[in-house]
Amino acid sequence: MILLEDVSKTYQTGVRAVRELNLRIDDGEFVFITGKSGSGKSTLFKLLTRELLPTEGDIMVNDFDLGSMKRRQIPRFRRSIGVVFQDFRLLNDRNVYENVAFAQRVIGASALEIRQNVPRMLKLTGLSHKYKNMPYELSGGEQQRVAIARALVNQPRIILADEPTGNLDEANTAEIMGLLEDINRMGTTVIVITHSLGIVEAMQKRVISMERGRIISDSGQRTEKRQLSIGPVRTASHRARSRRRPEA
Ligand SMILES: Nc1ncnc2c1ncn2[C@@H]1O[C@H](COP(=O)(O)OP(=O)(O)OP(=O)(O)O)[C@@H](O)[C@H]1O
Ligand SMILES: [Mg+2]
Repeated sequence: MILLEDVSKTYQTGVRAVRELNLRIDDGEFVFITGKSGSGKSTLFKLLTRELLPTEGDIMVNDFDLGSMKRRQIPRFRRSIGVVFQDFRLLNDRNVYENVAFAQRVIGASALEIRQNVPRMLKLTGLSHKYKNMPYELSGGEQQRVAIARALVNQPRIILADEPTGNLDEANTAEIMGLLEDINRMGTTVIVITHSLGIVEAMQKRVISMERGRIISDSGQRTEKRQLSIGPVRTASHRARSRRRPEA
């Protein structure tokens, strides 16, 4: 769950990028955060990933209190979220398999776990046949799918994406949104920042709109709670996780 209480962020320049935000996002939701350029979306994103700390207010993400969290807890917090960016941010000197495996190596996963989890994520994202390719040999949509596989491989509870389709054409955008929807159906909370009203309207999810650092509307429309067992693609990792968190 994500909980923001009276959160404000003022940059050193004096810009108040986010003002008095109060927000709750429950586990399993699919939420869009939208608003014009400069409305504070990316600032909110960075507050949620703890890249930035708020000037005022409290932020809870996955039971971590981001303001009072000890430094040594940060890696565990980071593992509980997966992040995706507009510009993919892949390691350009490693192939697809290694890009996804790298996220597992960083957290000290065993060779066996890596051998099991990476192919599973590549299958989920439709990239099994491209596992040996280098990022520069992939289309934009494929590169973003690698980034999503990498974000998911450590089984985070939340996926946060800042303009994930900003560099993609319409067909690839639809594909990425469909993939995020599948991931959400399997139980992961999905938060997508986009300024594209077309996407927001097409998807029919909860929409939070920002303007000048404030939330000006929140459709509050919750994603339907579906049975985990009817998800179209299920992975052993998700099964393991739903066993650990039977309430999901
Ligand atoms: N590091 C920074 N230092 C100072 N001001 C910043 C910084 N980052 C962002 N801002 C300012 O904070 C405000 C909100 O920026 P933010 O990047 O959160 O907007 P955004 O909604 O993500 O915009 P976009 O749609 O263009 O990505 C803007 O006025 C911006 O100029
Ligand atoms: Mg932004």
